[in-house]
Amino acid sequence: MTRKLMMCGNWKMNKNYAEAVSLSQLISNRSYKNWKDVDVVLIPPACDLKGVSNVLEFDHSPMQVGAQNCHWEESGAYTGEVSPLMIRDCGATWCLVGHSERRQMFGETDTTVNLKVKSLLAHGLKPIVCVGETLECREAGEALPFVTSQVRAAFAGVDARHAGEVVVAYEPIWAIGTGRTATPEVAGEMCGAIHECLAEVFGPEAGERVRVLYGGSMKPANVERLLAQETIDGGLIGGASLKDEDFAILVEAALKASTARGANRLKK
Ligand code: 13P
Repeated sequence: MTRKLMMCGNWKMNKNYAEAVSLSQLISNRSYKNWKDVDVVLIPPACDLKGVSNVLEFDHSPMQVGAQNCHWEESGAYTGEVSPLMIRDCGATWCLVGHSERRQMFGETDTTVNLKVKSLLAHGLKPIVCVGETLECREAGEALPFVTSQVRAAFAGVDARHAGEVVVAYEPIWAIGTGRTATPEVAGEMCGAIHECLAEVFGPEAGERVRVLYGGSMKPANVERLLAQETIDGGLIGGASLKDEDFAILVEAALKASTARGANRLKK
């Protein structure tokens, strides 16, 4: 089964409005038509969504826009929150759910992750569900059961017909923003195990359609080795997505990996 590779830039709480518009313009200027062969998603802060999506629309860019978070309700007394309808209205088609920073600092739980996944799908948006273990969990040999339990909880009660619209991002917490990347073998093995878990959750055929990304200090120096692992369907990139030249190198690496995978498949 061919899964289209996907490269997402999570800008986190960086870039004011003018900077976000400028960065998306710079990335758009570096992109070529073949960037449509990989799904490229820019994920700016909520207040920059409309500005970034306007730039991409004006440029007829194949890149897409995602939000970093949303509430599961459509509207109401939820001060400080934004709803799926609101992010969609600002041009987002994707939304991160359950990023470890939100789980650790803002009380996000498997239960709220599941509510958000269901709400996003109900509103025609596509969730990118983040999972990943702490260093203590890994050292205790619990990484795999922990991460697969996060996957199962996120998709509890989600119909298999949605499998093509959901993405999982494996982001080991110890590799985020630390410069410490999971080795390609560890990342590949974990993403492979997540694919197996998804096949159990959605059934083998639908489960195979779900893309599993790697995130955690992905950068120009390690992207090729990470994407050489066929279980890794792309990247969720933090720091290196804030510089247009670095992000462009990462997308170009994904395009190369995608071509190589196609050639490998023909050989088989
Ligand atoms: P870094 O690429 O900065 O490690 O961040 C990864 C991440 O958390 C993306 O969501």
